[in-house]
Amino acid sequence: MINKEVSRIIQSRHSVYPLDFNGCEIEDDIVLQILKNANHAPTHRLTQPWLFKIFSKSSKMKLMSEISKLNDDFTVEKKAQLEYNFNQSSHIICVCMHRNLQNIVPEWEEIAATAMSVQNIWISCVDSNIGGYWSTPKYVDQLNNFLSLKKNERCLGLFYLGVRDSKPKRNVRRKDIDEKIEWFR
Ligand SMILES: Cc1cc2nc3c(=O)[nH]c(=O)nc-3n(C[C@H](O)[C@H](O)[C@H](O)COP(=O)(O)O)c2cc1C
Repeated sequence: MINKEVSRIIQSRHSVYPLDFNGCEIEDDIVLQILKNANHAPTHRLTQPWLFKIFSKSSKMKLMSEISKLNDDFTVEKKAQLEYNFNQSSHIICVCMHRNLQNIVPEWEEIAATAMSVQNIWISCVDSNIGGYWSTPKYVDQLNNFLSLKKNERCLGLFYLGVRDSKPKRNVRRKDIDEKIEWFR
């Protein structure tokens, strides 16, 4: 038998967007606990490729102005949306991936492992008033200098983390698993 509580937690996970954040700050200690969970993601040959660059308070605003600078073609509405998202969020976690220098595993495996660490971030928020979502705009590829990333490192997106007042939604928007599986017995 598998643990019913684990299934409940996995099936309760869902994205929370800045519109549902209340603008309150999360203590760094709590963010650290979340990232300790992220650090337990599976990883081929233990390369542990995830790196997190965490922005809060005034540094969050520096990241936002860097993004605005990179996107000087943003419409007024897009800029306002970015500003809103940043103001509503407590922490913005730049999810980065460090490619093993000896290329001992293919890049997709490093990306997969990093994505699994993001899943752990998401799962850590279940049953709490903290939530977030992973945003993967194209401009993250241009953040290398700002994030002091090395040649073998890249940013895979921003995880917006915030506090919410609303009750958690039930995550039901899923196709039936029967559409996805084929048994060979
Ligand atoms: C790799 C990845 C990239 C994502 N990028 C974005 C994004 O750029 N913008 C966005 O609104 N949501 C993004 N999401 C969140 C998905 O939209 C969200 O997971 C999906 O709608 C399912 O909702 P749920 O997380 O509540 O189950 C991303 C999710 C993943 C796994």
